[in-house]
Amino acid sequence: MTISVAVSGASGYAGGEVLRLLAGHPDVTIGAITAHSNAGSRLGELQPHLHGLADRILEDTTVDNLAGHDVVFLALPHGASAEIAAQLPAGTLVIDAGADHRLEDPEAWEKFYGSAHAGTWPYGLPELPGQRDALRGATRIAVPGCYPTSALLALAPGFSNGLLEGDDVVIVSASGTSGAGKAAKVNLIGAEVMGSMSPYGVGGGHRHTPEIEQGLSKALGAPVTVSFTPTLAPMSRGILTTATAKVRQQPGRSVGAAELRAAWAEAYADEPFVHLLPEGQWPSTKSVQGSNHAVMQLAFDEHTGRVIVCCAIDNLTKGTAGGAVQSMNIALGLAESAGLNLQGVAP
Ligand SMILES: NC(=O)c1ccc[n+]([C@@H]2O[C@H](COP(=O)([O-])OP(=O)(O)OC[C@H]3O[C@@H](n4cnc5c(N)ncnc54)[C@H](OP(=O)(O)O)[C@@H]3O)[C@@H](O)[C@H]2O)c1
Repeated sequence: MTISVAVSGASGYAGGEVLRLLAGHPDVTIGAITAHSNAGSRLGELQPHLHGLADRILEDTTVDNLAGHDVVFLALPHGASAEIAAQLPAGTLVIDAGADHRLEDPEAWEKFYGSAHAGTWPYGLPELPGQRDALRGATRIAVPGCYPTSALLALAPGFSNGLLEGDDVVIVSASGTSGAGKAAKVNLIGAEVMGSMSPYGVGGGHRHTPEIEQGLSKALGAPVTVSFTPTLAPMSRGILTTATAKVRQQPGRSVGAAELRAAWAEAYADEPFVHLLPEGQWPSTKSVQGSNHAVMQLAFDEHTGRVIVCCAIDNLTKGTAGGAVQSMNIALGLAESAGLNLQGVAP
């Protein structure tokens, strides 16, 4: 079976990464590739690493150009993807890398994005409890944000096992600048970023906060509140998230390092792409560069009674395009790791 796939936003970082993975996927044929201001250009001018597709011409991002494929990837600014998605046939598998369909609470959407809520689609993070069932046979998939991917993978086992308190969760993430997309912005130019780190969205304002709270609240089965601070790091890709939460101690049940480690080890024992590293080994963004893997390590800080989990992903792979392709594979009943058997790049 060959599946025809269209990729919009193909001139951007997320769309380019989707194409990189699909070019090595055994079951798909790449059909239309589309862009906005760069429509009409040769892909090789904009994505020179995609050698096999270099002579393909970017088309306009229209419903006509995208419809007629089995699968459509949307790698567009939020808002633009909801508008296109609403016009695509119901039977087409539409996979949106943008934020439009991730949140379940319309009020949270309106508060953080300032527009009307476009609805909620199955969430493309298969490693969360029960999520593979939600993705099998789906025709619409919302790919998680890159920070939420790392934060949810870091803390979900603790909440789904009732080991953590939901009211004191602190998450700090460092991201490479590709997380902000390819459009030119002064704070992202080399002179500003090289040799420097800086925070942004401090004080609860980052749009990924409600998405992280949504996923952790589901895992706990009760509301979880999160203090989330992203920082910009001088690297092109990668996220290192440090997530901490208070460990829940109950009469007759003392939770320590061994119980915590066992919960995380069990949660990810059979996962092809999510790994609790051996004790003593800590994650690095370099080790997952270009791969769909997430690696993490945890410690129990007895002094503060908190668990600290550090998780590294590649924001463009597991944090976007890899998660999108993995979810496509599950939705269509393909091998889950098809097109994703990539090791990292070193040094
Ligand atoms: N970068 C990441 O790490 C990451 C991670 C998770 C999710 N995402 C999400 O993925 C989506 C794309 O992000 P990105 O980082 O790839 O951004 P990007 O590099 O800026 O690319 C944006 C793409 O969208 C196209 N585009 C811009 N405005 C458009 C419009 N009004 N209608 C149709 N197409 C339009 C651009 O085309 P032209 O170049 O031709 O103008 C380009 O192909 C966003 O929703 C983002 O939040 C990104």
